[in-house]
Amino acid sequence: MTENNTSASTRQAPGGESGEATSGAASAVPAKTFKITFLPLGKTIEVGVSDPDDHHEGEPGSILDWADKHDIELEHACGGFAACSTCHVIVREGLESCNETSEDEDDMLDEAPGLTLHSRLACQCVPDGSQHLVVEIPAWNRNLVKESKH
Ligand code: FES
Repeated sequence: MTENNTSASTRQAPGGESGEATSGAASAVPAKTFKITFLPLGKTIEVGVSDPDDHHEGEPGSILDWADKHDIELEHACGGFAACSTCHVIVREGLESCNETSEDEDDMLDEAPGLTLHSRLACQCVPDGSQHLVVEIPAWNRNLVKESKH
């Protein structure tokens, strides 16, 4: 059913392993600023050194975490614990700068409608900040996404 094994081979360990992207064991703030563009919203957020080093939703520094900090609301029914597939996104650019999928994430992705080679759970996908990301919110989930005006 799943076809995400191909993209898994291009994924890398989180930037924290290189000693460059994070400033401490509990820190989710990368060493430099990078951008995440959300499609089809056409909304680009700049994340990094200017963000508070606090944790909102999902894995620290995950796509869901950054989206939540920047008032882009992604559905995340399980609270960001890889126990549903409502935060399914398609990473169109920059996937190679993200951590590898875990077994739990792969299991949940198998349940996600519209699975692609670039599918990830936003709550588990942690970019290392070395590339800008373009993240598509699947059509089936768009009605669930809200963007705050503030
Ligand atoms: S919020 Fe449930 S898997 Fe991401």
